[in-house]
Amino acid sequence: MPSAPPPKTFRVKSFGCQMNAYDGERMTDLLEAQGIVPAAEGDDADLVVLNTCHIRERAAEKVYSDIGRLVKNGDAAGKRPLIAVAGCVAQAEGEEIMVRAPAVSMVVGPQAYHRLPEMIEQASRGERSSDTEMPPIAKFDALPGRRRSGPSAFLTVQEGCDKFCTYCVVPYTRGAEISRPFKDLLAEAERLVEAGACEITLLGQNVNAWSGEDEKGRPLGLDGLIRAIAALPDLRRIRYTTSHPADVTDGLVAAHGEIDKLMPFLHLPVQSGSDRVLKGMNRSHTAESYLRLIERFRAARPDLAVSGDFIVGFPGETDAEFAETLRLIDAVGYAQAFSFKYSSRPGTPAATMSGHIPQPVMEERLQKLQAALNRDQLAFNQSTVGKKCAVLVERRGKLPGQWLGKSPWLQSVWFTGDHAIGDLVEVELVEAGPNSLAGRVLRPAAAAA
Ligand code: SAH
Ligand code: SF4
Ligand code: F3S
Repeated sequence: MPSAPPPKTFRVKSFGCQMNAYDGERMTDLLEAQGIVPAAEGDDADLVVLNTCHIRERAAEKVYSDIGRLVKNGDAAGKRPLIAVAGCVAQAEGEEIMVRAPAVSMVVGPQAYHRLPEMIEQASRGERSSDTEMPPIAKFDALPGRRRSGPSAFLTVQEGCDKFCTYCVVPYTRGAEISRPFKDLLAEAERLVEAGACEITLLGQNVNAWSGEDEKGRPLGLDGLIRAIAALPDLRRIRYTTSHPADVTDGLVAAHGEIDKLMPFLHLPVQSGSDRVLKGMNRSHTAESYLRLIERFRAARPDLAVSGDFIVGFPGETDAEFAETLRLIDAVGYAQAFSFKYSSRPGTPAATMSGHIPQPVMEERLQKLQAALNRDQLAFNQSTVGKKCAVLVERRGKLPGQWLGKSPWLQSVWFTGDHAIGDLVEVELVEAGPNSLAGRVLRPAAAAA
C-alpha cells in the first residue's frame, strides 16, 4: 500500500445498533482530538471509518459494497481515502477483510478503536494494520472526554453478552458481559449534561445486567445507576436499552414508578411467542413469564409504552408456532417494535439446525407480523391523543416554523412555534398517525419533564 499524507478530514459511518452509534461518536471525539476534522457535507473525506454491523447477513455484506463505492469514487476523483473498517464485521471477519479488500488499511474491533490514532499513523506510512483484541474497559480509559452533545445523548454502561441466543453473533463480536465502573459513568453523564444533554439513554446489549458499586462500596444494579444519574439537576430525562427478560430485577420494575425522570418506555425483546421456539433460541424465558414481567412493569407504571424485537422463521418454526407469536403481540399491545426475518449467521448454533424456513414463508410471516405491529402502534398513538406531555425538541421540521421532538413514550411529535433544540415544550397531543403525532403547544419551554 503506498504511503499517503496524514488525513486532514474524516467521516464515520455507523450501521447497526445504538451501541455502534455511541462508538461512532467516541471515534469522532478521538479523531477530532487528533486535529482531524469532519469532512464537510458532500466533500470527500481523507479518512473514512465504516463502523459496521454483523447481526444479519445483509448488514454484513454492506461493508464490501461500501468499500467498492469508496474505491470507485476515490479513483474517479484521483485520490483514494484511507479506509478503516470498525465495528462488528471487523471483529468477526477481520482477517477476511484484510484479504478480500486490499483497499482497506485498518481493521479495528469494537474494543480496540482507541488505537485508531497509531493505526492511522501506520496507514500514512503505507502499512496496513488490524486490531481485534478484546481487553475489557481499556478503550474507555484511553478515550478523550466527551466534548459535544446533542439534547439526547447515548452512554454505553455495559458491553458484551453472555446469553448466547442460538441465532446471534453478538456474544462473539462484542465478547463477554462487562459493566463500566459507576464512578466513570457518573463522570461521563456529568460531562454530557455540561455539554448540553437533557436526555441520556443508557446503553448495553443487556443493559439491565449492569452491576457496580457506589462510592461507599455498596452493590448497585441498573436501578441504582439510574437513580444516581437522575440526581444530576440539569438532566431532564433518562432512558435505557436493551433489556433482557432474564435480568429484570424488582428494583428496576419499581424504579419506573419512583423516578420521575425515568421515561415510561420499556424495550424488552421477546423474539417469539412459542415456548418451543424460545427454547431452541436459548432464550431462558417463556411466553407466559414474559407476559407476567410486562404486567409487573405496567403495575409500577400504568402508562408504560412497551417495545420489543421479533424474529420470524427461526429454524423449525411451524405455522402454529408463528400464530403463537401473533397471539403474544395481541396480549401485549406494543407501542412499537422491530421485526426481522431469521438470518443464518456462520458460527452460531442455529446455523446448523435443521428445518430452515424458505424465504417466501419467512416473507409472508414477516408481513403478517408487521401488519399486527403497525395496527398496535397506531392504536397506541391514538390512545395518547388528548394527553398533555413534555416534548424534547430534537430538530427542525421541513416546513418553516415546524419542529420535531420526542414524547415521554418515544413517539415523534410535530408542532410549530418559536423553539430551540433542547427545549422541553409542553404540548397536547392532538392527532395521531402510524409513525408520528401532531402536538398543540401549551407552553414553549416547559419547566416539568
Ligand atoms: N441484546 C439485544 C439486541 C440484540 S440485536 C437483545 O437481546 O435484545 C437486536 C435484534 O436483532 C435482536 O433482538 C433480534 O431480534 C435480532 N437478531 C439478532 N440476530 C438475528 C439473526 N441472526 N437473524 C434475525 N434477527 C436477528
Ligand atoms: Fe444476541 Fe441474545 Fe445476547 Fe441479545 S441477548 S445480544 S439476542 S445473544
Ligand atoms: Fe450489529 Fe454489533 Fe450492534 S452486530 S447490532 S453493531 S452489537
